[in-house]
Amino acid sequence: MVAIEEYREMDISQPVEVVPGIWWIGAEDEDSHLKCHSYLLVDGEDAVLFEPGSLLHHQSIFQRVIKIVPLRKIRHIVLTHQDTDVCGSLPAWEMAFNSIPFHIVTHSRTVVFIKQYGISFPIYPIDQMYWNLKLSSGRILRFIFAPWCHSPGTFMTYDEKSRSLFSGDIFGAITNKWSFYADHFYVEAMRSFHDDYMASTRHLQYAMSKLAPLSIDRILPQHGSIINRDVLHYIHALSSSRCGIDLLCGDDPYRIGVKDVPLPVSGSLGNSTMANYSGLPIGYRYIIARVIEREMGVLGKEDATATARQVRGIHLDSEGNLIAIREKDGKDILNRLLSAYEKRFGFWAVFNCRLMLHNLIREFGLKMPDILDGKITNEQS
Ligand SMILES: [Fe+2]
Ligand SMILES: [Fe+2]
Repeated sequence: MVAIEEYREMDISQPVEVVPGIWWIGAEDEDSHLKCHSYLLVDGEDAVLFEPGSLLHHQSIFQRVIKIVPLRKIRHIVLTHQDTDVCGSLPAWEMAFNSIPFHIVTHSRTVVFIKQYGISFPIYPIDQMYWNLKLSSGRILRFIFAPWCHSPGTFMTYDEKSRSLFSGDIFGAITNKWSFYADHFYVEAMRSFHDDYMASTRHLQYAMSKLAPLSIDRILPQHGSIINRDVLHYIHALSSSRCGIDLLCGDDPYRIGVKDVPLPVSGSLGNSTMANYSGLPIGYRYIIARVIEREMGVLGKEDATATARQVRGIHLDSEGNLIAIREKDGKDILNRLLSAYEKRFGFWAVFNCRLMLHNLIREFGLKMPDILDGKITNEQS
């Protein structure tokens, strides 16, 4: 087992102790862009398992757990929601535990669905237990309700002692080039994930507002990278992001596809603020800059900018910032850019941008690039 606090190049074939007593225990899955993480908190005679994972990863996670503690020490399994990547392995855990006593810690709304896995664990319903759990040492785990992010009973867990936040899907990401710890580009990868997997801006903002009173040193998401520095920067990024139904419909769900919407006021666009693009006229230039920024987060800066540089009509500075395009050619350039990403990385790369693009195109009153036209909703754009 290794105990490494710092960056990127690290041995993840073994459990990693991210802070004393808190272990990343997998899963290691080189074949998938979606990394699913489980964590183990060890506190004296108690251990708490966060998100035991899918059936696919069960053997690997199970082996890592028993390298750290005997099964009898695990008193609690925390499940943020009922998704298969979170807890599809529950029946296998039930068999392994046999008669060892422990509880499933989750919200009452989630219990309804977890029972469908055919398990009979005793439940610790957080909403009926004052939203906290006291371990036998007196250590307190506090549960932060984050409804519809992305299930009705979703919550995050705050460990007061280590000032760690186990965030479930929130702060997650799906990336081409995964790193254990988040870097500067992780913000855009995170936004791409939240565009789709979170219900709405209000839901996400509600969850973020609950974090304001907490002192958080690190965020341990179920997907993507661990955030171990500048935590407030990432919280702010999600607090100021639009997502879900708001990207699809704007402020009015009955106006999907309507082309004559007024131009937006400065600062209200998409996920970034216009201040990041001062000097760039509103329109395709802004949208193309956002796509490149998004792909830097999802595909990695090097691949995202190298691909963009090869697109006719796009000029980037040494940092990958868009210098100029001919606005009247904007639709064609955007289409060429998206086609270049699709050709090199598959439709997945374009898919990452689709809700953001849908929102911007609608707000600017422009036309959806051909590559995505008709692929976002069953309405025509
Ligand atoms: Fe989920
Ligand atoms: Fe998940």
